Parts: sequence; structure tokens; C-alpha cells
Amino acid sequence: MSRISKRISIQSKDKGDLLVLLEEAQSKFGCLSQEVMSELAESVGISLSEVYGAATFYAFLSTKTQGRNVIRICKSLPCFLKNSELIIESVGREIGIRPGETTPDGKFTFQLTNCIGACDKAPAMLINNEVHGDLTSEKISAILKACE
Ligand code: FES
Repeated sequence: MSRISKRISIQSKDKGDLLVLLEEAQSKFGCLSQEVMSELAESVGISLSEVYGAATFYAFLSTKTQGRNVIRICKSLPCFLKNSELIIESVGREIGIRPGETTPDGKFTFQLTNCIGACDKAPAMLINNEVHGDLTSEKISAILKACE
């Protein structure tokens, strides 16, 4: 058993569990590095490209180290129609980075994502697992200041 698979307690060799294993590995190691993906591929008995494909397909998985607070602003149509572009601009201005980037101090990672299931509160965003809805530019500063 590999070093990575020992640390994430791989019990199953079923590739149907791949998404669960990827989430668990990301949680433990902060991201899905090449080393982590290679060892998972070997442990589950599938190709590295299959693991990489899953790791890069799902918005909640990342091959890059993420900040302590991952901001995901919804870019789907219902939020767009409620001015999500203004929220994107406000967040970017507040933390000084663009979507796809992480602040140098590792406090924030800023991403755009598809619908997060909070359309009734559009425009909406997630910070880690917490939903923030009915956003306005004026609310952004206070929300971000509350992040550790
Ligand atoms: S469209 Fe933005 S949360 Fe659903």
C-alpha cells in the first residue's frame, strides 16, 4: 500500500469510489498534486489520465494549492441577470486578485463556478461551504472581513 493511500485510508479498490477518494485526498493534502493523483491511480488500478480527468472536471476539486477561504461566485444565468458581474468586481477589488488566483498570503482563493443551488438568493457565492446570497457590492467587504 502506498504512502498516500495509507494516509487516506483507502479501503476500496472500486474506481466508482474515485470521487470520494479525490475529495478525501484534497481535504487531507490541500490539493490534488501530481504525487497524490499518481498514487491514487496506482491504488485504485486506473490510469493517471482518468484520475486527472476527474480532478480537473469537478469545480470542487483542485490540482493547485488553495487558500484557507475558497470564494466561489456563481456565474450562471440567474445570478448573471442579478448583476453577479458587480459582485465579481467587488470581490476582486477587495482582495486584490482575479478569478483563478490565490492571494500571496494564502488567505483567499477566488473562483467562478456554475450554479451552486442558491438561485433563489441570486446573486450568490460560496465561501468554503457557506452560502452567501442576495449579494450586493456593499455587503462584500463585511463578508470578507469575517473570514479568518
Ligand atoms: S444560478 Fe447562481 S446559484 Fe443558481
